[in-house]
Amino acid sequence: MKKTFALSLSFIAITATVSAHEVDKRQVLSFTEIQRNHVLTEMRAFLTGTQNILDALLREDMAAVARYARPLGMGMAHKAEDDLKAQLPKEFMQLGMSVHKDFDQIAMDAESLKDSKHTLRQLSESMKKCNACHAGYQIRVTEQPDEPGAHPSPMHHQH
Ligand code: HEC
Repeated sequence: MKKTFALSLSFIAITATVSAHEVDKRQVLSFTEIQRNHVLTEMRAFLTGTQNILDALLREDMAAVARYARPLGMGMAHKAEDDLKAQLPKEFMQLGMSVHKDFDQIAMDAESLKDSKHTLRQLSESMKKCNACHAGYQIRVTEQPDEPGAHPSPMHHQH
């Protein structure tokens, strides 16, 4: 068990080393510092929440699963600033909303079905969307869009 974990870690390390010599070709989202911070804070909440859900599942505490899943649901999405929403590509928004909906469903099912295996399956399915989005997009900080003469192209920022 331990050996497999160590092996897969070294595989990840090798993969990271190889790709470090390549340019990041994922679609660029040009954000301001504040927008970037907003999205990344939400992302870390996703990761923390997911870890908390796994921990609750381990204890078969389905009430705690619901408690950790619900804040990651659509309620979280509605807090996003409107200007940020307008700026995001449609597919990005759809993928994001779909993950929020999944967490609402996970919370509801945890309360009604109380079936940890079912919740694990839902979580695993939903996390494919984390991966899909991360594979497709990267964030770059550019000037404020309303700055006079600003060039939103990320090419001006590769120092
Ligand atoms: C709709 C797109 C999308 C979805 C869905 C998504 N992410 Fe992200 N996430 C991003 C982007 C874009 C970044 C920034 C990546 C970059 O610039 O390299 C990011 C970054 C992160 C980071 C790094 C945060 C930091 O402080 O640097 C974590 C952790 C993360 N995501 C976790 C998750 C988890 C867990 C899920 C699923 C439950 C998820 N994300 C779903 C788009 C998404």
